[in-house]
Amino acid sequence: MAESSASRGSWNSKLGFIMAAAGAAVGLGNIWRFPTEAASNGGGAFLFIYLICCFLIGYPVMLAEISIGRRTGKNPVGAFRKLGSSRMYSLIGIWGVLCGIMILSFYTVVAGWTLSYTFEEIFFALGFTNWAAWISNTESGWLNAFFSAIFMCCTVSIIRGGVSNGIERATKIMMPLLLLILIILIGYVAYLPGSSEGLTTYLKPDLSKVTPGLIFAAMGQAFFSLSLGLGALITYGSYLDKKENIPQAAVMITILDVLVAFLAGLLIIPAIYLAQTQGITIYQNGAFIAGPDLIFQILPSLFHSIGGLLGSLAGITFFALLSMAALTSTISLLEIPVSYTIDEHNVPRSKAATWIGLGILLISLLISFNTELIGIIDFVFSQVGLPLGGIMICLFLAYEWKTGNAFDELESGSPNFRYSIIGKSWKLFVMFICPAVILYNLIRGFF
Ligand code: PHE
Repeated sequence: MAESSASRGSWNSKLGFIMAAAGAAVGLGNIWRFPTEAASNGGGAFLFIYLICCFLIGYPVMLAEISIGRRTGKNPVGAFRKLGSSRMYSLIGIWGVLCGIMILSFYTVVAGWTLSYTFEEIFFALGFTNWAAWISNTESGWLNAFFSAIFMCCTVSIIRGGVSNGIERATKIMMPLLLLILIILIGYVAYLPGSSEGLTTYLKPDLSKVTPGLIFAAMGQAFFSLSLGLGALITYGSYLDKKENIPQAAVMITILDVLVAFLAGLLIIPAIYLAQTQGITIYQNGAFIAGPDLIFQILPSLFHSIGGLLGSLAGITFFALLSMAALTSTISLLEIPVSYTIDEHNVPRSKAATWIGLGILLISLLISFNTELIGIIDFVFSQVGLPLGGIMICLFLAYEWKTGNAFDELESGSPNFRYSIIGKSWKLFVMFICPAVILYNLIRGFF
């Protein structure tokens, strides 16, 4: 965002917005959460339902959020207040801000692990295996706290300066590199004997495994991965130029995000099968027992099995890139409460970023010493909270702001969108299909 322009700033270019939104979307959700969820929910069946959720539910909600953001030029709370007839509607934004804060609090801890494992790989490469083992102990509360704090400091310092320049530039370099290294590693793993069972599990959906619980998990994953339901894209949309084509940008963001998740699964699910044969316990008696540090157990042993300079290089680059991907996501998460505080309470950006960042870090410290909280907070605020936010956003747009107004906004940059097939279907989806399907699956999945 160019802080110099106008009052709130805007993205430097069209690619700037897509890059920033894709940077927000691509993160631990794709490489840590997706493979873990897929592995615990039948692999291919999960992938299949996840893809449907991304395109048929995620994409419509994404259009809704970006159009609300650009129309109002505000943070989520201010946006709903501005477009709604009653102040009550700002509660939707407040729920989003709360979800953002809580998600960021555990996200920072997991992001800290990506940092500690970058060091683990460096120490391992240098032959300091004891140090490598010491620094990567995810059960040490102090280490978790230390790395979370470093991560939060990086996030705060970038947010203090305004988001755009850093994110736009970092994402442009990071994203292609991340894709490249994923593809190389996938090739390597596919080549190893013992991985083919994992490949089949992942690529051949066994539809008999589709249960209400699986659909519930896949839907939550789609919201988490695309950063939907909490107003992250309302915030980013508020910095977007009127000329830009929102429906097109949203397609690119969705495809890129889904692609990274798909590739991460293609690497990690076969690697899980390999690891099982090497004695790492992931399933016991057919049940999934791995914890939130699953990928941090699997991947290093993979890099070490490659060995030599190549293995070290792969390991260090992978975890370093993953930290960067996580950073562009923590930036978008912190930007939600920060933009709210700047807009609604007139607090200067640097002060808002520092104090909110510190406040959230306190929760992260608590989680650092009690990592079992990750699953609980993730369940309440991502798995249930984000789809709930999605329902409210759709209903608000359809019945309070009205789709006609949303089309006016979307057609700035995408002329005649309302008459296109995608436009007509979108209206149907936000008005009826998305809220009904999300609600149905939330209730069924919950019970
Ligand atoms: N989408 C991010 C990821 O996949 C996480 C995130 C969720 C970011 C919600 C912003 C808002 O890692």
